[in-house]
Amino acid sequence: MFHAVLTSETDWAGWRAATRSLVLGGVEPNAVRWTVGGTPHLLPEATGSFGVSRTLVSLASVAVQAREPERFGLLYSLVWRAHAGETLPDDDPDLRLARRWALAVRTDAHRMRTHLRFMPVGPHLLGWYAPAHYVLEANAQLLAQRFPARPWSVVTPDSSAHWDGTALRIGAGVPRIEDDETLAAWWDAHGDAILCDSTPGVTVPPAEELDEAPRPPDRPAIGPIVLPVASASALAAARTDAASCERCDLCDAATQTVFGEGPADAAVLFVGEQPGDQEDTIGRPFVGPAGQLLDRALEESGIDRRGIYITNAVKHFKFTLRGKRRIHVSPSPEEIAACGVWLDSERAIVRPKLLVLMGGSAARAVLGRPVAVTRERGQAIRLPDGQMAFVTVHPSYLLRVPEGEAQVREYRAFVRDLTAVRELVGMV
Ligand code: URA
Repeated sequence: MFHAVLTSETDWAGWRAATRSLVLGGVEPNAVRWTVGGTPHLLPEATGSFGVSRTLVSLASVAVQAREPERFGLLYSLVWRAHAGETLPDDDPDLRLARRWALAVRTDAHRMRTHLRFMPVGPHLLGWYAPAHYVLEANAQLLAQRFPARPWSVVTPDSSAHWDGTALRIGAGVPRIEDDETLAAWWDAHGDAILCDSTPGVTVPPAEELDEAPRPPDRPAIGPIVLPVASASALAAARTDAASCERCDLCDAATQTVFGEGPADAAVLFVGEQPGDQEDTIGRPFVGPAGQLLDRALEESGIDRRGIYITNAVKHFKFTLRGKRRIHVSPSPEEIAACGVWLDSERAIVRPKLLVLMGGSAARAVLGRPVAVTRERGQAIRLPDGQMAFVTVHPSYLLRVPEGEAQVREYRAFVRDLTAVRELVGMV
């Protein structure tokens, strides 16, 4: 048994070097144990060379950042098989798993860039974040390109990244920090030591092709500030990431991911449940019967659809087949949770004043609990991040109410809710 020892959870260079020695030494994947830290062991002498596809190397470089203990071994076995001449089919379970990890890493990296908040500590900007995967180092390079002018540090429970205006350094992680005051006090006490013990990070290339122009933070003084992101391009990037989402099984049967649409600076963000049959085919939210009813109600309440952002809690159509017809099935709480990362991104980028939650799935996705729509309808609810939420019924519900008086009554109540939304936005 060979023991490959990596220096850190993100020791990509170490993994590559060990993989090279092991493959050239003819060591089968099941004869290697991978650990982070520990006494380095001798690996086979590496002589000669071999090649695997760029796509596999690039997949490994992203998947290796996943917080998955088996990733080093699994990625080694993919390289081992590719080097032995095996063509890895698309549905190979290990390849699929590596792709899932890479997707989760990309999503987490995006999430970190859109959620990260900084607070000024003297001339320094200080941010704390707990990423789901080991994405800090790769993200730090992007942040350094985006915000080159001011020194900053991002600290996470795993490690920390520090930019002094010219070079990036990587240091130790920090304990979980609950609020800004604790973070500032912790930095006062430990910042110098962390900086002193940090080691050079990867050199940052000049920011020539950035999709987001570097801008200084624009809110001074006390409290967290959000580094501005160019919202339209950030939305486009999130939409591209979501297009290959495999976070749950709904992607298997659906035609495509239906991402939200609307202005990146909309004051109101409407959330539905999931795309329906027509949305799934066309690729846009709320274009089928429920969308037409929503359009009519928006118009009657004086809201211009072109000015709002519309999305869904779940981005893939869930259905069951009845003959040739695809019949809507409500998403499960797990599917809503798995898809939450996309709605979070949309919220973080658009930063609306008000979220309109249409129906129980949308309300659950945002409020994080089961919601009795009829009980909570019509109230403005303050969310932990300062945004407001407003619960109302889903337009599909109105389509199910039997035609006649009841339907007219329910429709009028929906228009009243939307009118209240319009008035609220003027107030919030
Ligand atoms: N129902 C939804 O919740 N969303 C759509 O996009 C269409 C129907």
